[in-house]
Amino acid sequence: MDFGEVLSILKNDLNKVEASIKENFQSDVMLIPTIGNYLSNGGKRIRPILILISSRLCGYNNGDKHITYSCVAEFIHTATLLHDDVLDEAEIRRGSPAANMRWGNEASVLVGDFLLSRSLTMMAEVKDTRAIFYFSEASRKMVEGEVLEMINPFNLNISEEKYIDIIKRKTASLMSASCRIGAILGKRLSTEEDTLSNFGAKVGIAFQLVDDLFDYIAEEGKIGKEIGKDITKGKITLPLIHLYNNASQKDRKLIEEIVKSGDIQDEDFNKIIDLMKRYRSIDYTMDKARVYIKEAKEGMSSFNDSLYLNAILSVADYIVERDM
Ligand code: IPE
Ligand code: IPE
Ligand code: MG
Ligand code: MG
Repeated sequence: MDFGEVLSILKNDLNKVEASIKENFQSDVMLIPTIGNYLSNGGKRIRPILILISSRLCGYNNGDKHITYSCVAEFIHTATLLHDDVLDEAEIRRGSPAANMRWGNEASVLVGDFLLSRSLTMMAEVKDTRAIFYFSEASRKMVEGEVLEMINPFNLNISEEKYIDIIKRKTASLMSASCRIGAILGKRLSTEEDTLSNFGAKVGIAFQLVDDLFDYIAEEGKIGKEIGKDITKGKITLPLIHLYNNASQKDRKLIEEIVKSGDIQDEDFNKIIDLMKRYRSIDYTMDKARVYIKEAKEGMSSFNDSLYLNAILSVADYIVERDM
């Protein structure tokens, strides 16, 4: 099954998720739905997709809670994007000027808060304390990940382990919770919940590895955000960690100079890319993402073959094959 087929089997549910997103953005404070509608376009909806498939895989078939939780996960995610774009001074998000550029930092922070508050109300309406627990734990971990990243800028000596710990928190935790929610909705055994949660965590790590690679080598038009932002802002991610740890003394000096300059021109950025190619840092990062995807898929072997098992495995493949 390819990713297009996954989208087509979820089409009905995904349309309902879009409607729910629109509905839950409503407020008589017009700036909120204005920014909400603006932001709704162009997201890949990976977290809702994980919730929809995992809930179907676990046999959930008697209600619309999977739609509500998909909206919750997308709101938590969108709130962190709004806040993250303020921190990163991002200029483009989802192919358009970032909300912080159009409406300013204050509006971005506050609309992010609106989304988090709204997701609490939606969860309260479903009245499942375990879902509230896992989503709120994921939100906490995401904030911890962002704080850890914030306090480690320009630190070329950050270890690979520390980097993985940060991306586990800031990205994998919400994907892990999203997959677990499916098992909770299907009232499956706690061992199956853990299996899905581990799957989501591994997929999430791979997802951020690829995102961090894209920041060096993607086409801006395809990913809908700027490239070269991480190194400019002193965010030291795996491609650069690998490069710095494997470069010759002379190249390490050059990398230090470029990173610490804080003002990276195209020429310097291209030098870094050339070094990354020479020291195979791009391959190293991609291989690492592929290993996490392989492990994620292997971990699902206890589930019987089914349409939705194939769909969730295909989402895992998409994470490392995508170009956006
Ligand atoms: C971007 O997430 C932030 C990361 C965790 C890398 P997505 O790549 O899922 O963003 P959208 O929702 O598709 O815009
Ligand atoms: C942060 O990662 C995403 C969150 C989980 C908050 P990035 O900073 O790499 O995300 P992008 O590249 O801005 O989408
Ligand atoms: Mg960012
Ligand atoms: Mg990024």
